[in-house]
Parts: sequence; C-alpha cells; structure tokens
Amino acid sequence: MPQHSTALIVGANRGIGLGVVREYLSRGVSVIATARNPDAAAELRALAQANPGRVDIRALDMNDGAQIDAFTATLPEIDVALVNAGVSGPDHRTANKASAAEIGALMFVNAIAPTRLARHLMPKLRAGGVLAFTSSVMGSVALNPGGHELYRASKAALNSLTRGLHPELRGRGIALLTMHPGWVRTDMGGPTAAVSVEDSARGMVDTIASAAGSEDHRFLDWKGDTIAW
Ligand SMILES: NC(=O)c1ccc[n+]([C@@H]2O[C@H](COP(=O)([O-])OP(=O)(O)OC[C@H]3O[C@@H](n4cnc5c(N)ncnc54)[C@H](OP(=O)(O)O)[C@@H]3O)[C@@H](O)[C@H]2O)c1
Repeated sequence: MPQHSTALIVGANRGIGLGVVREYLSRGVSVIATARNPDAAAELRALAQANPGRVDIRALDMNDGAQIDAFTATLPEIDVALVNAGVSGPDHRTANKASAAEIGALMFVNAIAPTRLARHLMPKLRAGGVLAFTSSVMGSVALNPGGHELYRASKAALNSLTRGLHPELRGRGIALLTMHPGWVRTDMGGPTAAVSVEDSARGMVDTIASAAGSEDHRFLDWKGDTIAW
C-alpha cells in the first residue's frame, strides 16, 4: 500500500472534515485544509499552531469558480483529496415545497461544485493517491426508502458525477472513492447521531488508505464496507 504524505481536505473547519484533519495529523500526514472563512476557523487554526509547518489553511468556497482557479494554481502535488463539504438543504426537505433557488443551491453545492473542483484537483494527484468524496448512504438509489428526497437526490447526483470522473483517471494509479461517513454527531448529523466524529474520521482515513494502489471506483462506508449504488 503506498504511503501518503500530503492530504487535502475540503470543508475542514468543522464537523467530519475537521475530524479527518486531526486524524491525518495524528498519523504524520501533512494537511492542506480549506475553509470558506479561515479567519473564523478557530479550531483549525489551533491545530495549525500545535503542528507547525504541517497544516496549510486555505480559503475556498467550492461555489466560486475564480477562487477554485486561484486555489488550484498554487496547490502542490497531493496524495489524497477528500472533497467533503456539503449542505443538508432546506429544512422541509421535499421537492414540492422547494423553490427553484433552494433546489439549485443544494444541487450545486452537493453535486456540481465538488465535481468541478475535483477536475481541477486531478492533475495534482500523485500515482498511488486517492480522490475521495463525502457522499452519503442517502445517495444510494438501491437503498432509498423515501424521505429526505432532495438531499438524497443531491448525493445520488454526486455519486453519478463521480462515476463520470472515473474514465478520466484511468491509467494514473489513482483510486476513486465515493464515501458514506456514517450518521455522525456534527451540526448536520445532530447530537443524537450514532457515530462520533473521531470514529468516523478514523474509519474514513483507514478506508482511504486501504483503497490506495487500486484504480477502482467504489462506494464505501466509513468501515470500508461496500454500499449498493
Ligand atoms: N453528519 C452526518 O451524519 C453525515 C452523514 C452522511 C453524509 N454527510 C456528509 O458529510 C459531509 C460533512 O458533513 P458534516 O456533518 O461534517 O457537516 P457540517 O458540520 O455541517 O460541515 C459542513 C462543512 O462543509 C462546508 N461547506 C458548506 N458549503 C460549502 C461551500 N460552498 N464551499 C466550501 N465549503 C462548504 C462548511 O463550511 P462552513 O463552516 O463555512 O459552513 C463545513 O466546513 C457533507 O458532505 C455531508 O453531506 C454527513
């Protein structure tokens, strides 16, 4: 299994992303961590202070194409990219109540923006690396029992778009992962969620490490188990 030395985490100022940064640092991996507003990212800045020279905090709003261009122009080579940022969408969660603007915003952030960003990241990934996305089991069409239909659709769209990246990576020795982090106790997952940020992050990083060396595209959960598309 190739050893990874540098990981990029997009959406790293709180929740699962912040947990993944902590986990990589504990394993000796240097991190490039993005936040929409680095000045307000107190926990991330504290991690950078405690790990001198190992946390490079960059400003990035995935919705901003000009910012993506500027960000990737100065990005060094990386072994892992985890495009983790996402939103849950309007509270009512139904297609019938949603305005066109609400639907557009949700689909753009959860599906289109990660894919566009990833195309800019792909040239920076080293052979033996992993391009991973934080999707959700709620993006599985096969396992969809109904409910939360807009969020599910946004993650199903992300899953489909990530599959579209697969041919573009062929022959480069880079694994492609679409991942479910578990139901995690974050602002999005809520306080009653089943999995701690620490356990999710540990499992996500283990799963990413295990995928290195393959060229497959897989839909895996935080324990490394396969999810039906
Ligand atoms: N928690 C769960 O149970 C669960 C389950 C399945 C999947 N997920 C997925 O896991 C990922 C992380 O979730 P979480 O629970 O850690 O959520 P969270 O605590 O709400 O954090 C979301 C992160 O995404 C960032 N973000 C949102 N829109 C962005 C944009 N346009 N550009 C850049 N960053 C943006 C946020 O930045 P700001 O702080 O600036 O808003 C924040 O860093 C999401 O993709 C989510 O859909 C979560």
